[in-house]
Amino acid sequence: MKPLQLTTVIYLDNHATTPCDRRVADEMMVWLVERFGNPHSTSHEMGRQAADAVAASLSVIAETLRVPDDTVVVTSGATESNNLAIDGICRHPRQKRRHLITSTIEHPAVLDVARRLRKDGFRVTEIGVHPQGHALAGQVDLVQLETALDDDTALVSIHWANNEIGTLQPIAAIAKLAHRFGALLHSDATQAVGRLPVDLHATDVDLISASAHKFYGPKGVGLLTFGGGVQRRRVRLKPMLVGGGQQRNLRSGTMSPANVVGMATALRLATSEIEATTEVTRKLRDQLFESLCDAIDPLELNGSELNSDRLAGNLNILLPDVEGEAWMAACRDVAFSSGSACSSVDANASHVIMGLGRSESEARRSVRFGIGKFNTAAELEQAIGLLSEAYERIR
Ligand SMILES: Cc1ncc(COP(=O)(O)O)c(C=O)c1O
Repeated sequence: MKPLQLTTVIYLDNHATTPCDRRVADEMMVWLVERFGNPHSTSHEMGRQAADAVAASLSVIAETLRVPDDTVVVTSGATESNNLAIDGICRHPRQKRRHLITSTIEHPAVLDVARRLRKDGFRVTEIGVHPQGHALAGQVDLVQLETALDDDTALVSIHWANNEIGTLQPIAAIAKLAHRFGALLHSDATQAVGRLPVDLHATDVDLISASAHKFYGPKGVGLLTFGGGVQRRRVRLKPMLVGGGQQRNLRSGTMSPANVVGMATALRLATSEIEATTEVTRKLRDQLFESLCDAIDPLELNGSELNSDRLAGNLNILLPDVEGEAWMAACRDVAFSSGSACSSVDANASHVIMGLGRSESEARRSVRFGIGKFNTAAELEQAIGLLSEAYERIR
């Protein structure tokens, strides 16, 4: 095997993924190497140890998110969680309602599930968001939501925080509206968990999805909760995977204790550090925006004002005269992402930026930065120099 090349890239793409916190990796190691028992083989001590570690980790997760312990399903990540939540509810044999509401700026792991349901005969409404220039740019239009809801609506699925423009949705107000019509609320909280206090009791949200690698945990593991909300409304889920019947038949397959321990440790650490991380990332993000405004004129924001309802580390900007892809290609020592590749492997212009009323060409001239807790002021200064110099070269 070739020796690993240590990267010198300045990583400013923390919405795509975050590095695994070393404290998390250390906790996981013992469950990979020494205590490797199968948590479903509880007839012996090795299995019981693993089962206990999984149970303790699920309790930490449930307590943090404020849901009952037995309403957390461990999955491979938010993509699977979104699929299980939406398909699981809509396709359950006892589901009578045939209408799903979502928004135009969801992640493809929600939108593609919704569109497949539409093909299969479900009624699907995609509600829009307030356009660029509006004080609530990027937030779902609650009037449209209320108009779309009816007594045939099984589920509303609206994300908590957007992965491209960082907009925070008025999730408690959305929950109230959905429940008024007897619908459940699922929220793709992948960008929110670990970055904001996500309290499912206070907000009355029924289900959320998350991925551990977005909050400094390992990749390939995530969660779906289905017991949130003040009233703990009944959620019937049709499983996607069948087999050994693990996780109360909701998700067959051997759980990885290392991943579950890693996810719980990462969530505990990230949650306890939210205030400090928010302060650091906000300061660096604001500094990045100010410096880029000096270097590039005119520079516009995509989404809401920086210090409004927006993730602290998020910056999404519209360039005047250069495509995001070209800037990225000219500045390979900084990792960030363009409006054409934020959430999928294809090169379509971002549906999120266009959802704000921007044109396709504007979407292609948009780029996203995600500042994380391990970024430093020195790194940022260096990145600003590299970005400005590359921009000057290609404009
Ligand atoms: C909002 C949102 N939902 C879902 C996902 C999918 O997560 P994963 O690839 O870990 O399944 C992502 C990842 O970018 C995301 O940002």
